[in-house]
Amino acid sequence: MLLMVEPLKLALSKGRIFQEILPLLAIAGIYPRDDPKTSRKLVLDTNQADLKLVIIRAADVPTYVEYGAADFGVAGKDVLLEHPGNGLYEPLDLRIACCRMMVAGEPEVTPRSGRLRIATKYVHSTRRFYAERGEQVEVIKLYGSMELAPLVGLADRIVDLVDTGNTLRANGLAPLEHITDISSRLVVNKASMKMRHQRIKEFICLMAEAVEKQH
Ligand code: ATP
Ligand code: PRP
Ligand code: MG
Repeated sequence: MLLMVEPLKLALSKGRIFQEILPLLAIAGIYPRDDPKTSRKLVLDTNQADLKLVIIRAADVPTYVEYGAADFGVAGKDVLLEHPGNGLYEPLDLRIACCRMMVAGEPEVTPRSGRLRIATKYVHSTRRFYAERGEQVEVIKLYGSMELAPLVGLADRIVDLVDTGNTLRANGLAPLEHITDISSRLVVNKASMKMRHQRIKEFICLMAEAVEKQH
C-alpha cells in the first residue's frame, strides 16, 4: 500500500524575501510552479511533490510556523526580534534581505527637552535598545512609512531598516545609531522538527550548502 505523507509547507512572504530565496532554492534543486508576482494563489506547488510554499505577510511568518500551520518559514531577524516566546528553532542564517536596524532622525535638529519620542514598527527592539542604555523614551507604534513621523512632528526619531539609505535621504533624514544587523533566517516548528526530522534536516543541509555556494 502506498503511504501518503502530507507535503511540508514552507512559509514565505512575497516581494523581497520570495525574490531573494529563489536563487537559493534553485541551487537546492527546488523550483516553484507559480510566481506570487503574477499569481493570486497563496499555496504554490514546487517541482518536489512533498514541498509546498505558502505565501503570507512577512510579520505573520513566525505565527504560522509556531502554530505548525507551516512546518518552516523564512523571516527577517527584525520580525523575529518582535515575536515573543521561544516556540521556534532558528537553525540557519540565509544571508538574504540584508540591512541594518537603525535610529534615524533630522540631522540638524536638537530634540525637544524631556523624553525622546521614537516612532517605529519595532517596538520591542526599540525599548530594549534604549533600556540597555538606561534612557527613558516614549515609543509610538506605527505600521509603516516611519520616515514621515519626524517631518510632521509626531516623533523626534524613528527606528527603521536601512539598506542604501535612499529612503532616509529622500526625506531629509540621516542614520544616527546602529542597533543591529538584519538578515533573513530559516525558522522551524519544534514539533515538525521532531516528527519529520529526516526530511527537515535534509532541507536545512541543502539550504546551508546553497548559502555557502552563493557567498
Ligand atoms: P509588508 O510588505 O507585509 O508590510 P514588509 O515591508 O516587512 O512587510 P518586505 O519589505 O518584503 O516586507 O521585507 C521583508 C524583510 O526584508 C524584512 O522583514 C527585513 O528583514 C528585510 N528588509 C526590509 N527592507 C529591506 C531593505 N530595504 N533592504 C534589505 N532588506 C530589507
Ligand atoms: C524598507 C524599509 C525602509 C527602506 C530602506 O522599505 O522600511 O523604508 O526599505 O531601504 P533603503 O535604505 O535602501 O532606502 P520597503 O522598500 O520594504 O518599503 P515598504 O515601506 O513597503 O515596506
Ligand atoms: Mg518593506
